[in-house]
Amino acid sequence: QAAAVQVTEMADVVRAIKPREPESHKGSFGRLLCICGSTGMAGAAAMSISAALRCGVGLVDAALPRDIYPVVATQAQEAVYTLLDILPEGKYSVESRRSLEKSSSLCSAILLGCGLGVAPHTKALVEEVISGSRVPVILDADGINSILGHIDILKTTDVPLILTPHPGEMSRLMGKTVSEIQQNRVRYARQFAMDYAVTLVLKGAGTVIAAPDGSIWLNRTGNAGMAKGGSGDVLAGMLASFTAQGIPATAAAAVAVYLHGLAGDRCAAQLSQTAMLPTDLIAMLPKLFLEIG
Ligand code: APR
Ligand code: MG
Repeated sequence: QAAAVQVTEMADVVRAIKPREPESHKGSFGRLLCICGSTGMAGAAAMSISAALRCGVGLVDAALPRDIYPVVATQAQEAVYTLLDILPEGKYSVESRRSLEKSSSLCSAILLGCGLGVAPHTKALVEEVISGSRVPVILDADGINSILGHIDILKTTDVPLILTPHPGEMSRLMGKTVSEIQQNRVRYARQFAMDYAVTLVLKGAGTVIAAPDGSIWLNRTGNAGMAKGGSGDVLAGMLASFTAQGIPATAAAAVAVYLHGLAGDRCAAQLSQTAMLPTDLIAMLPKLFLEIG
């Protein structure tokens, strides 16, 4: 295994994030479809959408259940919303399916899973999106939980796929214990990425990013103040935003993970690891982008 191992640096971020041309319009920066949220997990949707918006994407279209729409839309006003209705028999309504198809046909990337839940109708949707998407798909959280037991679905597509498991999710994906995963983070991340031809982001202190060709990016930013529910949703939104803007999957992952951790380090310095919150990471992003120039 002679594949490259690199540590992400600020120079990699500066190289990947292009200045915005004066003549550009919102269509120049992509359109992200976020399929996210469920009753009781409105915050995960709101944080992923807000983080995506703060990373420069031209438009976010958030597809979510009608009952959480009022609270999410109040938190993320710039997004457009595709409202989903579930029929009593536990399926999406015909109108919801039609709207989802329309949204899918317009977008440049799809983020699938933040706070989505694992009901039968969302699980079926996750499968359909993975197999049918013509644009890159970022699978986080319940997007990952939805494919357990039929991971080969990942092999049914040629579009770039990016998975962002934490060690627990990785343990379920690979059928290894969390401690096996944690003792061999690079090895298992690389094995999964190569076996399934995906970009695999194995989160936690020292996040490992493995490309389908087996090359590895290691991340050194971030701290234990980020060990709070919601930090993962912020990362997923950032990564999806960069992907929707056309940054290739593995570079988008390396850049998002680096900036997410750097935002965490700045928050820790200003707010303390104890008190900092995932929403503070989002609020810190403007300062980081000012430094990038
Ligand atoms: N050092 C650096 N980064 C860290 C650290 C640390 N010690 N701890 C956490 N992080 C970062 C991770 O690298 C990752 O980017 O914070 C983020 C946490 O992401 P997740 O573990 O996915 O957490 P999140 O989804 O926000 O919340 C946990 O996920 O699996 C479900 O049921 C679980 O509700 C829970 C939720
Ligand atoms: Mg998570």
